[in-house]
Amino acid sequence: HWTAEEKQLITSLWAKVNVEECGAEALARLLIVYPWTQRFFDNFGNLSSPTAILGNPKVRAHGKKVLTSFGEAVKNLENLKATFTKLSELHCEKLHVDPENFRLLGDILIIVLAAHFTKDFTPACQATWQKLVGVVAHALAYKYH
Ligand code: HEM
Repeated sequence: HWTAEEKQLITSLWAKVNVEECGAEALARLLIVYPWTQRFFDNFGNLSSPTAILGNPKVRAHGKKVLTSFGEAVKNLENLKATFTKLSELHCEKLHVDPENFRLLGDILIIVLAAHFTKDFTPACQATWQKLVGVVAHALAYKYH
């Protein structure tokens, strides 16, 4: 269900993504823009202001971990459900993360990519990435169904 053009749009952008930088920024923005998501990270230390969140080393490290994991989706486009089965179990059964938050993080990631790549993040590119973050959110929510 991915056309050759979509695969090309995904992999060519992904090759340019700095996972450490964009991952940290995406998780930080999630915690800043949707503050209720902070409650999942109460062991992460100081989340008291946007500056504190952006400079928090645990946020940065975890953001990198999450975006690295997102990279598994890029590598396994045809097999997303199986790729995320374990993580779906973790987020559902152990962490009790509301799956709505997967959608929010996906939309935040789109904004981070747009901010980083500006004109290269064309409407066609956005459309494809929007589809990808939706499919990833769905795969992560799999265990809730
Ligand atoms: C842990 C991926 C979204 C909350 C993790 C881990 C990965 C991951 C790889 C580490 C698993 C391990 O240690 O074995 C992802 C991906 C997401 C996503 C790919 C979406 C694209 C979210 C969202 C939340 C969340 C939206 C909450 C708002 C957590 C928490 C942990 C975790 C609380 C455990 C953190 C810790 O204390 O180490 N996630 N995640 N995740 N995730 Fe997610």
